[in-house]
Amino acid sequence: MFALYLLLIGARIDKFYSFRYKPCNDISLLDCNQITKKSYSLYIHIPFCENLCEFCFFHKFPYNEINIKKYYKSLIAEIDLISKKNIQINNIYIGGGTPTIYLPGLTDLFEKINLSFDVKSISVETDPYHINQQTLNALKSAKVNRLSIGIQSFNEAVLNKAGRVNKRKYEEIKENIINARNLFETVNVDLIFNFKKQNINHIDYDIKNILELCPHQITYYPIMEHNKGLLDDIFSLSKEREMYFYIIKNMQKYYYMNSVWSFASKENIYDEYLVNNPEFLCAGCGSFGYYNGFLYANSFNLDNYINRISKGILPIVAYKRLNSLEKILYLLTIKLYSLKFNKFEIIENLDNRNKKIYKSIVKYLTLSKIINTDNKYIQLTKEGLYYWLNIMKHFYINVHSMREFCNSRKL
Ligand SMILES: C[S@@+](CC[C@H](N)C(=O)[O-])C[C@H]1O[C@@H](n2cnc3c(N)ncnc32)[C@H](O)[C@@H]1O
Ligand code: SF4
Repeated sequence: MFALYLLLIGARIDKFYSFRYKPCNDISLLDCNQITKKSYSLYIHIPFCENLCEFCFFHKFPYNEINIKKYYKSLIAEIDLISKKNIQINNIYIGGGTPTIYLPGLTDLFEKINLSFDVKSISVETDPYHINQQTLNALKSAKVNRLSIGIQSFNEAVLNKAGRVNKRKYEEIKENIINARNLFETVNVDLIFNFKKQNINHIDYDIKNILELCPHQITYYPIMEHNKGLLDDIFSLSKEREMYFYIIKNMQKYYYMNSVWSFASKENIYDEYLVNNPEFLCAGCGSFGYYNGFLYANSFNLDNYINRISKGILPIVAYKRLNSLEKILYLLTIKLYSLKFNKFEIIENLDNRNKKIYKSIVKYLTLSKIINTDNKYIQLTKEGLYYWLNIMKHFYINVHSMREFCNSRKL
């Protein structure tokens, strides 16, 4: 048995994320009665941006005031449909796109979620060009406790090369970012490494600038290639590895590493919604959820999305039911993403057959020197960090393949 799993998993765990999806008109996915009264997160997607960055693989449309007004109306109706499912939701993550691009809609959404759920935390994403004092005050009074700002790089030439068009210079937006940092419990800043033509000097420059800004958390993604042409050449992966270890070495002088690609100013900042809530619901056009063993997606087509909600039906259009092995690998992916986890956490909920599968995987990862185990924790080794960075990359890229699946079928 073990040899079989060694063969299956040994090559690459990421192969398991080559999901095959099924189109779905069945909206009963959220209707099953879970035995335990668990609490879930809700991911809400706002797919509008002023300019579409070439490197970005998230679902988005160019901003248009008429469309976004219609969108928020549908989104609020969707939240209403979800709230009737009697599922306990406490944590909200509003991502995009650029959620702060249209403040009146976002304010209505805040009002709706605060009325519909017993909200314990709200996280919002933005780019640095769509925050000002008025936006920050509105977020604060809606009880947002975490703001994530995508800077990507402080170097304009690198950003231009990556197809990120912005009209404002960093110096003009710096003050808003500092104001944000002083207002919220957690301010995260996203950076990206291994962009085309980006070298170690650019990374030094980005690290110097980010340390000056001093956010509570820094998420430093590797560029994830969803279309050809984002990477330099065949040597890009060795450049990625070199930059990754360079970033870790330098960031750890000032920050605690709290996931394979993030760094926190305090040891106890653990704000990645997936780590504590591997199951989560979703709302919005082109959003994903994972509930009761089903990975599922909402319609990617704006008209479809709006039409379905106007008929009072949830806009779920595709799903994949994970088998036992995929569920174990999904949990392991999420837990090891945060570097270490209690060694009893996953295994204690598995039946005997799945316990055997799980132990085989753990044994393989140990023999391969990707993880080590003491009497309390399973944790990534130094080499394991880079291996797991790649597992996460493939996980994201394969979720993106669900977008392509839905887009190609106009779902
Ligand atoms: C959905 S975006 C929203 C952020 C916001 N709109 C902005 O532009 O700053 C969230 C983050 O995903 C990351 N991201 C997007 N595409 C990526 C890619 N191809 N590879 C790696 N990271 C990516 C960026 O760091 C970005 O800040
Ligand atoms: S990186 Fe942000 S602003 Fe750029 S396209 Fe993606 S979501 Fe929009």
